[in-house]
Amino acid sequence: MSNKFIWTKKDLLGLEYLSAEEINHILYTAASFKEVTTRQIKKVPVLRGKTVVNLFYEPSTRTRTSFELAAKRLSADVINIAVESSSVRKGETLIDTGRNIEALKIDIIVVRHSASGAPNILARSVRSSVVNAGDGWHEHPTQALLDIFTLKEKLGRIEGLKVSIIGDIAHSRVARSNIWGFIKLGAKVTVCAPEKLIPVGIEQTGVHVTNDINEALEDADAINVLRMQFERDSKLAFPSALEYFKQYGITSDRIKKCKKNIVVMHPGPINRGVEMSSEVADGANSVILEQVTNGIAVRMAVLYLVALAKKPTSSLPAKVENM
Ligand code: CP
Repeated sequence: MSNKFIWTKKDLLGLEYLSAEEINHILYTAASFKEVTTRQIKKVPVLRGKTVVNLFYEPSTRTRTSFELAAKRLSADVINIAVESSSVRKGETLIDTGRNIEALKIDIIVVRHSASGAPNILARSVRSSVVNAGDGWHEHPTQALLDIFTLKEKLGRIEGLKVSIIGDIAHSRVARSNIWGFIKLGAKVTVCAPEKLIPVGIEQTGVHVTNDINEALEDADAINVLRMQFERDSKLAFPSALEYFKQYGITSDRIKKCKKNIVVMHPGPINRGVEMSSEVADGANSVILEQVTNGIAVRMAVLYLVALAKKPTSSLPAKVENM
């Protein structure tokens, strides 16, 4: 990937809609911005005068905070809308909310919503850029981008790696975005879960499917362990959290039987003692906090690219270096 690539998409709605070249360009741009985040003054003026609105209809710690930090490090103004105390409570629709926010002359709406496809609807209704921060069971594209970025940083490549995604695949937007991203970049992806937590037809995406945790761990270069989503329907698919942990939980004993340098990822928040033990979460193979750190650079890249989508972005790395 070179700095001659021209980004043309005003929105980031999912990795399903991106080519491998576009995904690689986001990663390339993020690597440039990662250097900015290590400086004493972690700020560049590339989005000065732009305004980013965080519109989160669901709770978030990592994603909302890192979008806010990413925007501020690009010198954009940021507004966080607390949906619970907004006119959404009076019945205002997503489209009306989006159009009214847009009337305030903003540039980017970062939206998280419980309905799959909500960001797509919003993007068709406003001229501003829309970035999907997680929609229902559909996609969480910036999470997958930071997962891919972190793994590439650790192992130097994605193509040919064996990546196992373990946990509640059925209710996971992270799983869907990971599958699109890793498959497009040439990884061999296995998904592993109890039968009822595997979506029908998932093998059509090109993944290998197993219910056997040992098969998923054998030869894996990396695992991405997903949260059991007790607020959705994960619990209906397994008798108890303890039984899930015994059969699918990632423990030190299981990690000892894996490749020595297996990379352990988790999007957070973790249910310690359900999908993963604390020993593994905090252990030598875990890159969970590095994923969080990398989320800022990846989201800086996404905000930068969508904000300047109509213009060639050919000079980004050189410009960043000189700021
Ligand atoms: N991984 C993730 O989306 O975390 P948050 O829900 O805290 O944003």
